[in-house]
Amino acid sequence: MNASPPPHAGEPGVPRHVAVVMDGNGRWARSRFMPRFFGHKAGVDALVRAVNLFADRGVEYLSVFAFSSENWKRPSEEVSGLMSLVLVAVAKYLGKLAKDGVRIRIVGDRDAVSDKLRQAWEQAEALTRENTRITLAVCFNYGGRWDMVQAARRAARQAVAEGWSTGQIDERIGEGWLGDQMALSFAPDPDLFIRTGGEMRISNFMLWQSAYAEFHFTDCLWPDFGAEEIDRALAAYAQRDRRFGMIRAPAAQAAG
Ligand code: IPE
Ligand code: IPE
Ligand code: MG
Repeated sequence: MNASPPPHAGEPGVPRHVAVVMDGNGRWARSRFMPRFFGHKAGVDALVRAVNLFADRGVEYLSVFAFSSENWKRPSEEVSGLMSLVLVAVAKYLGKLAKDGVRIRIVGDRDAVSDKLRQAWEQAEALTRENTRITLAVCFNYGGRWDMVQAARRAARQAVAEGWSTGQIDERIGEGWLGDQMALSFAPDPDLFIRTGGEMRISNFMLWQSAYAEFHFTDCLWPDFGAEEIDRALAAYAQRDRRFGMIRAPAAQAAG
């Protein structure tokens, strides 16, 4: 299906791009005396719910942190469980997401994952390529530092090939050069950065892109993140005064 964008997309106060650190699956499972994997499975269900809820509210891009460059340091059973969960999730939900108008993009270093996983991702991207309701960027084997390093490497290669001076390297996304080399160059910078699970840190997500994001931290564990929490985060965002280094216009200041 190629559902048209919702009428309120781009409306003031509604973030175009929401980035989420989906944290707390392990604690959610532990509180139920269940293995951590049970929490990760519930986390996939929460993600499929969330993408539709955000789309209904006019969000155009949802980027989620699913597996970090550092998550390889977890016990090998958990790492392999997460890898196999991706295959299960694609088999279970790809048809539904495609039908719901979701365009899927996988962001991260694909070199370290199995051929099977790479093929599942390629299938997900190919099947949903034409969808326009919302773009879901699944950040897997992703790290903000990895992204900056690979962008710098590509930029350096291009500079050598074209005989450019270092002064020609520009930071602006869209027109400039470094942002264009980043794995998320297809999306605008995130407006709203949410982290569930109670920790107040970025953990290497969106280091470059979150320069002017509004942050929202919640104790809610990711598998419990539903409509109520989403509306709370969006309402908090709508109250923020985004200045981007400028000052408010005098009329707006007078109005309070
Ligand atoms: C986030 O949940 C999912 C991944 C990092 C893959 P966690 O697994 O980090 O859950 P907690 O933080 O231990 O509760
Ligand atoms: C961040 O969560 C990574 C993902 C949600 C994929 P972590 O649970 O890995 O982060 P830390 O270790 O608490 O910083
Ligand atoms: Mg965690």
